[in-house]
Amino acid sequence: MTDVRPNGPTTAPATGAEAPRGVEAPHGTQGPRNIQDLRGIEDLRETIAAELLAARARTAALTDCVGDGDLTAQHSPLMSPLVWDLAHIGNQEELWLLRNVGGRDPMHPEIDPLYDAFQHPRAERPSLPLLPPAEARAYAHDVRGRVLDLLAASPLEGAPLLEAGFAFGMIAQHEQQHDETMLITHQLRKGEPALAAPPPPPVPADAAALPAEVLIPAGPFTMGTDTEPWALDNERPAHVVDLPAFLLDTTPVTNAAYQRFIADGGYDDPHWWTPQGWEHRQRADLTAPLFWRFEDGQWLRRHFGTVEPVPLNEPVLHVSWYEADAYARWAGRRLPTEAEWEKAARHDPATGRSRRYPWGDGAPGPEHANLGQHHLRPAGAGSYPKGQSPYGVRQLIGDVWEWTASDFRSYPGFRAWPYKEYSEVFFGPEYKVLRGGCFAVAPVACRGTFRNWDYPVRRQIFAGFRTARDLERA
Ligand code: AVJ
Ligand code: FE
Repeated sequence: MTDVRPNGPTTAPATGAEAPRGVEAPHGTQGPRNIQDLRGIEDLRETIAAELLAARARTAALTDCVGDGDLTAQHSPLMSPLVWDLAHIGNQEELWLLRNVGGRDPMHPEIDPLYDAFQHPRAERPSLPLLPPAEARAYAHDVRGRVLDLLAASPLEGAPLLEAGFAFGMIAQHEQQHDETMLITHQLRKGEPALAAPPPPPVPADAAALPAEVLIPAGPFTMGTDTEPWALDNERPAHVVDLPAFLLDTTPVTNAAYQRFIADGGYDDPHWWTPQGWEHRQRADLTAPLFWRFEDGQWLRRHFGTVEPVPLNEPVLHVSWYEADAYARWAGRRLPTEAEWEKAARHDPATGRSRRYPWGDGAPGPEHANLGQHHLRPAGAGSYPKGQSPYGVRQLIGDVWEWTASDFRSYPGFRAWPYKEYSEVFFGPEYKVLRGGCFAVAPVACRGTFRNWDYPVRRQIFAGFRTARDLERA
């Protein structure tokens, strides 16, 4: 059934960053949430408990803010009812922690098929005999209580799933990923706003003087990871990739820039689109990002139930890969490859090391990146100077997921772990990779190596992009 192979996180003390060619990576200044620096098993236990608690608080906020009708309704054929995500979160936690780690018997084996994402496509889920909201909450709560007992007694080592608390970390990330999915459902939901959040910090004064693009010189860097304890299988193993020089946008592409593409007839000229992209643009009648409409001479958008003028300086959101790719060609540029994105985000030219994050090895703080749904929108372009990479690239982490040119493929030496259905079944040309996380991604599910993927037609996800170009040779 489950394919468990001994390919878990390394047991060697993790340095948190990859060091190619024998360069020893020093410890960075790590925050308390970095499991690399924990002083023993009690710290690890506390960190795991805190991550599980944070995920559940977010799940509760996303499901307590609407009534039962909104929890069981299907707000879009692209999404599950919120009540499905809720019970699926509990079911995966039961499966991985109580059964696979704890060796317990199934609590309610008859509901397992309902919450197996591979048995029923999202569009079918509303017609299943799902647990009603109160039962779904009670089930997830019941599982969690038992998981906390299991955690208190677990050695957190001695089995591949347990090393550095991996299975617990995987489940905290899984819940946070579904919280992002539920936030997408909220954005698609018609009706009164149910969520509120303070705006992101103002754009810093130096943003106006930033160069439009930065040069990433030719050379090798270490992509992926062997040392990040809670990295998922598709982020492994670390491997050296040698890239030619390229130039990368300092910030994600803004709504103002994207409006110039629209105004220039970008959606009407097949020249900018790939054949499949143009076919999709015609069939789906794309004319602007999802949720936008043109009214009285200006672009408006619906954002979590509120209609507002499209904020010009924010990174563009809710565009498909096809639109991002067409924009890039119109701009005389291209999307960066996944390797280019990761080199710009992680490579430190001063040491030759790859960092955990653009700013270093320390956990994301509010000064580094717009993560965790603390602000319900991306920050203006040029924000978060303390989060910039050694090359001076900003907002690589947080704000908007960034479409890359790359198909979702395994790294050389990949081994599916702990189950093929997390990544392996999705490898291939039909999915494109997104990098960097967005405002709706929790820090626990975000790092310089983290890989997301989706179909190139997808627009409801919180995705934007930045562009790149080759360095012209004299
Ligand atoms: C990594 C976001 C593509 O939502 O399909 C959730 C994450 N995997 N449950 C998805 C995931 C299993 C996954 N993505
Ligand atoms: Fe899931």
